[in-house]
Amino acid sequence: MVELSLNRPWDMDLAEEPLFNKLGEGNLQLLVDRFYDLVFENPQISRLFKTDKSVIKEKQRLFLTQFLGGPPLYSSQYGHPRLRARHLPHTITADDAVAWLACMSAAVSSLPVEQQLKDELMERLIPTAMFMVNRE
Ligand code: HEM
Repeated sequence: MVELSLNRPWDMDLAEEPLFNKLGEGNLQLLVDRFYDLVFENPQISRLFKTDKSVIKEKQRLFLTQFLGGPPLYSSQYGHPRLRARHLPHTITADDAVAWLACMSAAVSSLPVEQQLKDELMERLIPTAMFMVNRE
């Protein structure tokens, strides 16, 4: 059975538990809290964030819940995420994305979870952050 799964990795993907379940709600809340505390103090990107910190933390908690395979909490409140479109009013350069990812990586690293899960989280977030770049 295991051999069959290894020969057909897509079967393993289907069977795999969502990252949201592996992480758990408590750790997701910790992640979002620590991430935005870092973002709001980051010299490169803090200027972009004008909304109240607790509001953006809560939106990101709803978004990451569904992004990581949990219930669609963000969409049920705000509609389709259209994440790139929602970021277009903000000038985001590659340097900004790198700074965003550095904050995220520090927040992920601080979580009391296995290294494997930390790696999986960053693997999902890196391409998404680079996709938000909208200015040379
Ligand atoms: C690449 C670097 C990124 C930068 C510089 C950035 C910056 C921003 C800014 C300035 C806002 C608006 C904050 C405000 O209202 O004051 C925002 C909103 C948001 N961002 Fe990002 N972002 C980045 C990447 C990402 C990524 C990778 C995700 C998801 C994994 C994400 C998810 C969100 C969400 C869910 C919101 C709230 C959207 C809403 O208003 O409903 N962002 N971001």
